[in-house]
Amino acid sequence: MLETIEIATQAPYRVHVGPEALALAAQEQALALVVCDARVAPLWAAELGCSDALLLPEGEEAKTFAVLERVLEELAERGLDRSSSLLALGGGATGDLCGLAASLYMRGIACAQCPTTLLAQLDASVGGKTAVNLSSGKNLVGSFQQPTAVYADTRTLATLDPEQHRSGLGEALKTALISGEPLLVRLEQSAASILPGGDVDALGCLVADCVRAKGAVVVGDERDCGDRMVLNLGHTFAHAIEHGAGFGLVPHGIAVAVGIFMSIEASRMLGCLKDASLPERVASLASRLELPHDLNELRHSYGAALEPSALKQAMLRDKKGRDRSPRFVLPVEPGAVELDAELPDSLLELLLG
Ligand SMILES: NC(=O)c1ccc[n+]([C@@H]2O[C@H](COP(=O)([O-])OP(=O)(O)OC[C@H]3O[C@@H](n4cnc5c(N)ncnc54)[C@H](O)[C@@H]3O)[C@@H](O)[C@H]2O)c1
Repeated sequence: MLETIEIATQAPYRVHVGPEALALAAQEQALALVVCDARVAPLWAAELGCSDALLLPEGEEAKTFAVLERVLEELAERGLDRSSSLLALGGGATGDLCGLAASLYMRGIACAQCPTTLLAQLDASVGGKTAVNLSSGKNLVGSFQQPTAVYADTRTLATLDPEQHRSGLGEALKTALISGEPLLVRLEQSAASILPGGDVDALGCLVADCVRAKGAVVVGDERDCGDRMVLNLGHTFAHAIEHGAGFGLVPHGIAVAVGIFMSIEASRMLGCLKDASLPERVASLASRLELPHDLNELRHSYGAALEPSALKQAMLRDKKGRDRSPRFVLPVEPGAVELDAELPDSLLELLLG
């Protein structure tokens, strides 16, 4: 059973969610060059009928200029031309790097996505943002190029490390909070069945719900100039955490979960929070999703110093900032946020302490 969601961007595409998605990708993308990492290749590449994938390093190590250059050289050596296409098989890091390589090679070739992590299925594979990191900060170089199709095969989640699975739940929490009450309630109701090792159908529903919610936002603002910024809830904090810990140590969605709590607290302290029950409600949901709540939990679990001064420095280089001032998305109530908020230094210091 496959659920298909249409994303009506300028170049529209379909997101297929369910246990037969890889089989469909094998049919529809038979000529594409598969790009994946060495962990995912032996697990899932054969399902695409692929024996000669272009291999990347795992996770954030793929998101560098050096890897991008090597991939572009390899596309040329393999003789790819403007009619060729790539198929990114893996997590968000593979998708981001492969999408960026596709958008640059010969000024742009097609790229489809086969996301194999929960985070990539419900978030990163949809929306057309691609990126690599710089030593100065996360995702500082990238492009916008929508995929030609997305195949989210929920069976692939069975081999995912539990921590990576929870990272996907962090982005799901964000999507539910910005989407509003109906999705938030569905997430609360399904919490027990979407944990690592959870029910494939429940996970499929979660992925489809989040893809629909993200798709609706992206369609209205493909290039992240306005309303799409809502998707950055928790991300100014999260990107600084990932940078401060060293890319790859704290999974993206885990950092996002902590970023959400910091944003809620900032919103409460600035008097922007309309729904006074939100902090407790989100804390209770995060506990059920086995997500951390604060920086100290991260410091303890990952052995990362996450020094306030280093986090603050990282935020100054965040690409959402303006006039050398970091900007934040602050929750107001489920389905409503304040965009582009500045925080007073004293509040920032309190939150990072
Ligand atoms: N482009 C976007 O819109 C967007 C949105 C959100 C996040 N991102 C990016 O996505 C990245 C995070 O992606 P992620 O959470 O998917 O992690 P990831 O891509 O870093 O992958 C994490 C690990 O999971 C492994 N893995 C992947 N699929 C597996 C499977 N089915 N079984 C076993 N292991 C598997 C990978 O080999 C890797 O070691 C970050 O770089 C983040 O910035 C991009």
